[in-house]
Formats: sequence, C-alpha cells, structure tokens
Amino acid sequence: MKTTLFTTLLLAPNLVLGLLDAKIKAKGKKYFGSAADPGTINTAIDATILTSDFGAYTPENSMKWDATEPSRGAFTFTNSDALVAFAQAHGRLVRGHTLVWHNQLPSWVSSITSAATLTTVIQNHVTTLVSRYKGKIYAWDVVNECLNEDGSLRSSVFFRLLGESFIDIAFKAARAADPAAKLYINDFNLDRPGSKTSGMVALVGRLKARGVPIDGIGTQTHISIGNAGTIAGNLQTLANTGLDVAITELDIASSTSSADQAQQSSDYKTVAKACLAVSRCVGITTWGVSDKDSWLTAAKAPLLWDTNFVRKPAYTGVDSAFS
Ligand code: G3I
Repeated sequence: MKTTLFTTLLLAPNLVLGLLDAKIKAKGKKYFGSAADPGTINTAIDATILTSDFGAYTPENSMKWDATEPSRGAFTFTNSDALVAFAQAHGRLVRGHTLVWHNQLPSWVSSITSAATLTTVIQNHVTTLVSRYKGKIYAWDVVNECLNEDGSLRSSVFFRLLGESFIDIAFKAARAADPAAKLYINDFNLDRPGSKTSGMVALVGRLKARGVPIDGIGTQTHISIGNAGTIAGNLQTLANTGLDVAITELDIASSTSSADQAQQSSDYKTVAKACLAVSRCVGITTWGVSDKDSWLTAAKAPLLWDTNFVRKPAYTGVDSAFS
C-alpha cells in the first residue's frame, strides 16, 4: 500500500490532534479500536487511518459462521486470515467476532434438530476458530445477541435445542482452545437501565454460578444522538458483575446537518468519558472508520470520519474526552 500525497495531506492534522489509541492508552485503557475487514484494510486511506488512530480491530463480517463454515466441516479463512495478518503486521490487537450468533448463520446449522448434533457442531466450530488464531486474539465475542429485549433468552436454534447450556458449551470450548483469550458475551441495547440490562446481569450471574469461563460483557452501543447520558451508569452496572466491560460496536446514528453533527460530537465525548470513568471498561471499538462504509446509511453519518475521510466533530469529541 502506498500513501499518496493526498492521503498524507488529509491526515496531517493527526500531527496536531494526536492519535486516539495512544491517548486512550495514556488514560489506562487497552485500546481504541475499529471494525475492519479486507474491504477497508485493502483501501489505502482506510488502512492509513486504521493504523494511525486505532489499536485493535474487530472483523466486521469475516469471522462469522456463514463466512468461516458455510457448510459443515468445510472452513474458509481467507478474509479472516487477512484481517489477523494485518493486525499482526502492525502490532494491533484483534477482537474475534463472533462464534455463536443466530444471525449470519448458515441454514445447515439452523436446520439441525438434534441436541447432540448441535452440541458437536458448536464445539467443532468454536474449537476450530479459536485454535486457528490462538495467541493472536485479545478477546472473543463468544456468544452474540442471545437476549430478547425483555431480558429472556432469544429463541434461536441454539436455545430451542439446548436451552441456556449452549452458552456454557461455547465458552468452555473457547477457553479450552485458547486459555489466554478473554471471553465475552456481547449484546446491543445495554445502554440504559431496563429489562435487557437486568437480564444480562442475571444471566452473567447464572453463568458464573455454574463456573462458565467468562471474562467480559460487550455492550455494542449502537445508539442515536441524544441517548448517551445513561451509558456511564449502565457500564458500571455491567461491571458490577465482576467482569470486564467493553464498548464493542460504537456508532451514533445522526444526520448530516451541522446541528445533529454537533450533538453527535457531544454524545461521542460522553461515551468516551463513560469508558474512562469505569475502571473495568477496557476499551472502545467504533463500528467502522468512515460514514462511507458504515452498515448504517451514509445519511445517518454515524462515525468519526465523513464520506470523504475528513475528521468530523465526532472525532474532536472523542479526542477532547481523552485530552
Ligand atoms: O457477502 C455478501 C456479498 O457476497 C453480496 O454480494 C452482498 C450483496 O448485498 O452481500 C454481502 O453480504 C453482506 C455482508 O454484510 C458483508 O458485506 C450482507 O448482505 C449484509 O447483511 C451484511 O451486513 C452486516 C450485518 O452485521 C449482518 O448482520 C454488516 O456489514 C455488519 O456491520 C453487521 O454487524 C453487526 C454485528 O456483527 C453484530 N451487531 C450488530 C452489527 C450491525 O448490524
């Protein structure tokens, strides 16, 4: 990858503003991260920003079940290997995402009807991925989005056939395959008090009581402008389980109007300060680099760089929280 003069000039303010990953580390945290994948690491300007401001990468899609085991026992790792190699080449952490999730799940898994078969399939999938990247993954999102909004367990194929024990099976297999990796349960809408947050706290309590090897709770933090005020308190509620916590997929849906972008900047600052304020919060990951590549539409302008890779007020908000 060549850095063009254009890229260099565009990024020059970094020299003044400094680097978000370096700044959050100076505050005692482990990383400021981003979602990434071959689509971004192979785009020069994304790669430049990923290496200037971010210290950890989460594969946005390449480690999911449909990408890695599209048919039973037939594994494909081209894209996930590329992401891990990029991180290794630049000395960055990786958050593995995700081992057991009802979404982006191949139909051969969702059509399983035997509990014994599903147990073997989960164990083989988890063991194969975690072993492949042993020593190269800081933390795994072992189970993703297993809760309903009322805090009960989602009716996935995993829960229907195995009850809550599918979580135990997945975490135990992950721990056995890489004892050093931090093992997380990850979910969205854990940004405020309510049934889902209470359900997560209760679930973690049951998992710990059963001796399930779990290290952390990931709160995705896909929010909209104006909704950051409850996050610090909720992070502390999650941390009171005794586990680490991490903000794993941060984006703040907005609009491109300058008023909404100003509100978004303030909200990003509030979220960044929330992690700083909670000692068990290990780091923050934003769900992508620029509004150009976000899973949300560019019209929602949810990230720190705009569609032309110019830093937004949102960037300044995070930067000021760390300064
Ligand atoms: O890979 C196919 C490609 O072959 C095809 O040409 C193209 C046509 O649409 O689709 C591609 O798959 C897309 C995939 O992203 C890879 O780009 C899917 O359609 C699309 O649905 C998928 O979206 C991802 C989404 O998860 C799926 O649930 C987003 O990129 C990704 O950002 C998003 O991430 C999730 C987290 O994993 C979990 N938490 C919520 C978060 C946001 O939804």
